[in-house]
Amino acid sequence: MRLEEFLEERTTADVSKVLSAVAKSSVRVWEALPIERGVTGGTNPSGDRQAALDLFTNGEFSNSLIATGAVAELASEEEAQPLTGRGALHVAMDPLDGSSNIETNNPLGSIFGIYDSALPCSGERIVASAFVTYGPMVTLTFSTGNGVNRFGLVRKGSNFVFELAAQDLKMPDKPEVYGFGGLRREWIPPVERFVTKLEQLGSKVRYCGTFVGDYNQVLKHGGIFGYPALKGKPRGKLRLLYEAAPMAFITKAAGGYSTDGFVDLLRVEAEELSATTPVYTGSYSITKELERTVSSGSP
Ligand code: F6P
Ligand code: MN
Repeated sequence: MRLEEFLEERTTADVSKVLSAVAKSSVRVWEALPIERGVTGGTNPSGDRQAALDLFTNGEFSNSLIATGAVAELASEEEAQPLTGRGALHVAMDPLDGSSNIETNNPLGSIFGIYDSALPCSGERIVASAFVTYGPMVTLTFSTGNGVNRFGLVRKGSNFVFELAAQDLKMPDKPEVYGFGGLRREWIPPVERFVTKLEQLGSKVRYCGTFVGDYNQVLKHGGIFGYPALKGKPRGKLRLLYEAAPMAFITKAAGGYSTDGFVDLLRVEAEELSATTPVYTGSYSITKELERTVSSGSP
């Protein structure tokens, strides 16, 4: 089944317009990946260095999402100020997730949270979210709250189209794999203890350095992805609105759980657009156990 057909049947007209625009632009991004290789010398509002591809993807998705007419506000990890449009939806995006993987030719991604409230707000206001992975295949994975679906880009004659690859994806509850970012010696002690225990239980490490790539391993095999609270950075690295909450929305729709170590990640209020949060997202039982370990108060 084609993406457009699926969206027409399953979502509102506005969400459908946004997800179709994401899909179309992701093809242009994929085509640009081998071409836009430089660095810019600039930094984004979080202080990350911007690569040419960060700017290209930001421009591409911004133009196509605003052109849908369905977007009221578009906030991007690469911009200090949101763009405004004539529609009703509020979109927060990380147009190029994992940009440190550009040089090493490892997977890259894009993340989109579609909210029904002005930003910043909590993930409880998400109505749909999506992520794209640019790996050997381009895939679009999304949820409108009711199951997680994946479409893959395939060639049909001289055209590329997104076709249904998997419907109603569920995260297995057995923790096969885990991936935690940041320096291990900087992790807060309960996280260090928890990961040591996971390893003893036989979970395998999977870490490529792109949130969506590492997350995909967990979605497929079961386990947990974390970018923890660090000793010197208690609010972690990943951005709540652009990265953490949209992925937590997908985790929940796949039967998993996400936490900042204390509460459901979807309930955490963003105080500003670039607010960061510790992120632990994955299979339900193991992520709940991590939350108990981190919130227990023992050092
Ligand atoms: O967007 C930030 C990001 O690139 C994520 O995709 C990834 O999970 C994380 O940073 C990797 O950070 P580190 O290099 O510190 O492990
Ligand atoms: Mn990112």
